[in-house]
Amino acid sequence: MCNDKGKTVKFIIATIKPFKLEEVRVALTSAGVRGMMVSEIKGFGTQSGHTEIYRGAEYAVNFVPKIKLEIVVADNMAEQVVSTIAAAAKTDKIGDGKIFVLDVESALRVRTGEMNDEAL
Ligand SMILES: Nc1ncnc2c1ncn2[C@@H]1O[C@H](COP(=O)(O)OP(=O)(O)O)[C@@H](O)[C@H]1O
Ligand SMILES: [Mg+2]
Repeated sequence: MCNDKGKTVKFIIATIKPFKLEEVRVALTSAGVRGMMVSEIKGFGTQSGHTEIYRGAEYAVNFVPKIKLEIVVADNMAEQVVSTIAAAAKTDKIGDGKIFVLDVESALRVRTGEMNDEAL
């Protein structure tokens, strides 16, 4: 966003393995992240879920349980947040997930009317 209402913010969407959620959350709060959304999802990547093990059992179907994180941060924190998630989520096995970074048009804290980086 290119106006005087506040610095730009980024939207980070990450899929991680469910058992990594707590480790990733701790790493992110240590890195200064103050809020996030967490969802239980199912998904697949290039292996179509076929060879991934979840809780000891191979899934017969293509969808594998994952956690989706959605995090909005100030522009200048985005790179560090991505590397923090990647470091904490990595197991070196297939299905470690993906991280996407998007531009955000605007952010608003409803209670105060604060905008963009001040809304976080
Ligand atoms: N192209 C994609 N678009 C949206 N979500 C994806 C995509 N690829 C992977 N995901 C999500 O990330 C999760 C983990 O993907 P992963 O198996 O690590 O990817 P890959 O097998 O392509 O290396 C998937 O279960 C899915 O939820
Ligand atoms: Mg995969």
